Amino acid sequence: MTINLVVRPFEERDYAAIAEVFNAAWPDQAHTETALREDDDHAPQIKWGRFVAEIDHRIVGVGEYTQFEGMYHPQRFAAWVTVRPEFRSQGIGKALYRQVVAALEPHDPISILSSTREDQTAAIAWLHKLGYLEKMKYWESRLDVQAFDFAPYAGKIEAAEAAGFELKCLKELESDPEYQQKSYDLWLEARLDVPRPDAISEVGFEDYCKWVFGSSYYLPEAYFVAVDTKTGQYVAMSTLWKSDGDYLGTGLTGTRRAYRRLGLALALKLKGIRFARERGVKEIRTGNESNNRAMLSINEAMGFVKQPIWADYVLTIKEEAAMPAATLATAREES
Ligand SMILES: CC(C)(COP(=O)(O)OP(=O)(O)OC[C@H]1O[C@@H](n2cnc3c(N)ncnc32)[C@H](O)[C@@H]1OP(=O)(O)O)[C@@H](O)C(=O)NCCC(=O)NCCS
Repeated sequence: MTINLVVRPFEERDYAAIAEVFNAAWPDQAHTETALREDDDHAPQIKWGRFVAEIDHRIVGVGEYTQFEGMYHPQRFAAWVTVRPEFRSQGIGKALYRQVVAALEPHDPISILSSTREDQTAAIAWLHKLGYLEKMKYWESRLDVQAFDFAPYAGKIEAAEAAGFELKCLKELESDPEYQQKSYDLWLEARLDVPRPDAISEVGFEDYCKWVFGSSYYLPEAYFVAVDTKTGQYVAMSTLWKSDGDYLGTGLTGTRRAYRRLGLALALKLKGIRFARERGVKEIRTGNESNNRAMLSINEAMGFVKQPIWADYVLTIKEEAAMPAATLATAREES
């Protein structure tokens, strides 16, 4: 049976329809127009684009490419193709991928990163066929907030405070004119040791402020930091973010190198769980790289339950020194 497929560039009016595609493909995550619009508000250096697949004027698939602000390289890209489950195995994904690859060609990409989850076996097989190799894995883990047992952690928050730290949320620190700068300075160090598939890149204070304080998902009451009372420096952080579902998302948990193993990350996470419990929140979700023992051990002990693992896959088109590995043309033929 031939299908009446049209692949065309994404337009402003398509946001609600593409949110529906993502919700159909990933029903346990909340995708909304608001979140997609916020994600699309990229820094000026970021090259990105999106295509939609329509059948009889209904959007059934999305193909997109972008770059990561915190891992920026002018020739490294990320790309994803998402097709509604009931429209798969009809060549729609291939048609979208072809458009994405063609749109990337003028940017002379050296690599494309994509990702999927272990239960998406068809997607994994497809990525392998295209020449993508697995790079890094991440568990999403979920905590049942209302069932959390605080008893084993009795005294942990007080112990951190007694050791000379104030554990505060940013809402409580807003009266300090420097609180945004101090939280940025902490974030700059906390992000250094977070495992990532490509090299870290600089993010300026203004971009940080836009991502955090300008986000409609920012929760100042749940953006916790530990303040060293001797110096006033912010030395550890753990943050929760609003979501469009019935859960809060965990942002970065990180401790300055000189302050590790003092129980600060654990104490801040406990503050977050207590906040969520008091607000009647059902669940907290987090994501951790599969070898990040330090973070995983805290979350495992707290009772976060691992979900099917995600993996990043990378297609190397040429090495940085311009040694050709695979060409885009090859990638396209193989699709
Ligand atoms: C993960 C991280 C935030 C932990 O911060 P921390 O303040 O040192 O953690 P805590 O002192 O609260 O540790 C509490 C418990 O977690 C476990 N833990 C912490 N670090 C550990 C490590 N490197 N290896 C194994 N277990 C560890 C221990 O059980 C520890 O208790 P103990 O010191 O009494 O044995 C810190 O290592 C870090 O900043 N890493 C880089 C940022 C990062 O990767 N964040 C996570 C991104 S998803």
